[in-house]
Amino acid sequence: MKYIPEPFKIKSVEPLKVLTRSEREQKIMDAGYNLFGLSSKDVYIDLLTDSGTGAMSAQQWGAVMVGDESYAGASSFYKLRDTCKDIFGYGYVQPVHQGRAGEKVLMPIFLSPGKYSISNMFFDTTRAHVELAGGRAIDCVNPAARNPRTRASFKGNMDTARLVEIIKEKGAANVGVIVMTVTNNSAGGVPVSMANIRETADICRQYKIPYMLDAARFAENAFFIKREESGYEDKSILEIVREMFSYVDVFAMSCKKDGIVNIGGLVGVRDTNSNIIQKIKANTISYEGFYTYGGLSGRDLEALSVGLYEAIDENYLRYRIGQVEYLAARLDSAGIAYQSPVGGHGVFLDAADMFPHIPYTEYPAQVLALELYKEAGIRACDIGSYMLGNDPDTGKQLQSEFEFTRLAIPRRVYTQAHMDVVADALINIKARAGEIKRGYKILWEPDVLRHFQAQLEPIK
Ligand code: F0G
Repeated sequence: MKYIPEPFKIKSVEPLKVLTRSEREQKIMDAGYNLFGLSSKDVYIDLLTDSGTGAMSAQQWGAVMVGDESYAGASSFYKLRDTCKDIFGYGYVQPVHQGRAGEKVLMPIFLSPGKYSISNMFFDTTRAHVELAGGRAIDCVNPAARNPRTRASFKGNMDTARLVEIIKEKGAANVGVIVMTVTNNSAGGVPVSMANIRETADICRQYKIPYMLDAARFAENAFFIKREESGYEDKSILEIVREMFSYVDVFAMSCKKDGIVNIGGLVGVRDTNSNIIQKIKANTISYEGFYTYGGLSGRDLEALSVGLYEAIDENYLRYRIGQVEYLAARLDSAGIAYQSPVGGHGVFLDAADMFPHIPYTEYPAQVLALELYKEAGIRACDIGSYMLGNDPDTGKQLQSEFEFTRLAIPRRVYTQAHMDVVADALINIKARAGEIKRGYKILWEPDVLRHFQAQLEPIK
């Protein structure tokens, strides 16, 4: 597979240092075998997340200089509002400091104890905010997503037949909001088709349930629709994005992904007469800041206005997805399993396939992430049972649908040579996978979002 050359040149660089294997072993032990506990200077290639880790363009840095830092009514806010009106077609948008802040503002408006929220798959913070609002989160992903080795298009789709069953079982009045996550991060960054977004909209209208888009990776999703869904090949990315957003009532977006900014989020409401706008403003003022800045500085709003347009540039998206596909193709040659076809923002390695002898209670995806760090200083993360945590009602360890080790690729940061280092490290680990007999046990964990802070120990 050919690597698509970067559609940019590099103006500013950050030096990297490589530790020895024994130094890395010491560092990760000191961090309690939690990759979030490492200092970034001890990491060579950081694939922990694609969130807030992208490289801003010279145009974005230029825009930073004209940020209007007024407390209320900053011109940078109006510019961002016009950008969002143009790209998403929404009359009301609300800046917030990042995606989970949008979830914190929105979820209590739709959910309370006894209510459910259903999604093609919740991201961990979205699930946490459903639960913090008193609700219960139900994942309803396309069954094709459950077989990482079986290639299928639009694996991120909602299982709409199952969705209707769940609505009937719980009662439509008890379902507070239906969430479509694009791309479907937890299932592998895999896309959702326009047909599925539309069909889910029809179900939401029929049962009078609010419909929300978790739009963190909206541009990458639009690229897949253009490339793979019939009827969209001749549409522009902008047209596809507008259509995606036209089917939902509200969106929450972490702009740290496809907004290509280091911090920022948005909430949007399609109907400018909706009575939820007042509630959103009230929650934002309490939690985030006045509603024209929402916890961001004027310069952040400016960088976001530029980043949103850069993210929907088809040339950029072709390179972006191409880079992820290049890494995946190298793994194919080595027989290393991952959620296939690969999604938009990274490779989700199938750790259950690499370590079939390690049970979910010993966190195989965390095992692989730790091996990658020890092998080559690469930082990845577990998107499996270790991240999923315990049942909020029984306190028992939940079994995730997947044991993924995620290699999330930051936008415009690493080169082809870095991708080769990652592929070579994985090939080495696969060669000795049978010698890694046991996983890890948790020594300490917090109640919510435990994977960020838990302390672990290898099982002897
Ligand atoms: N929704 C999705 C689909 C996400 O992937 C994330 C964050 C959020 C919401 C929350 O946004 O971080 O800005 O508060 N995902 C990051 C990740 C953290 O690594 O996948 P946030």
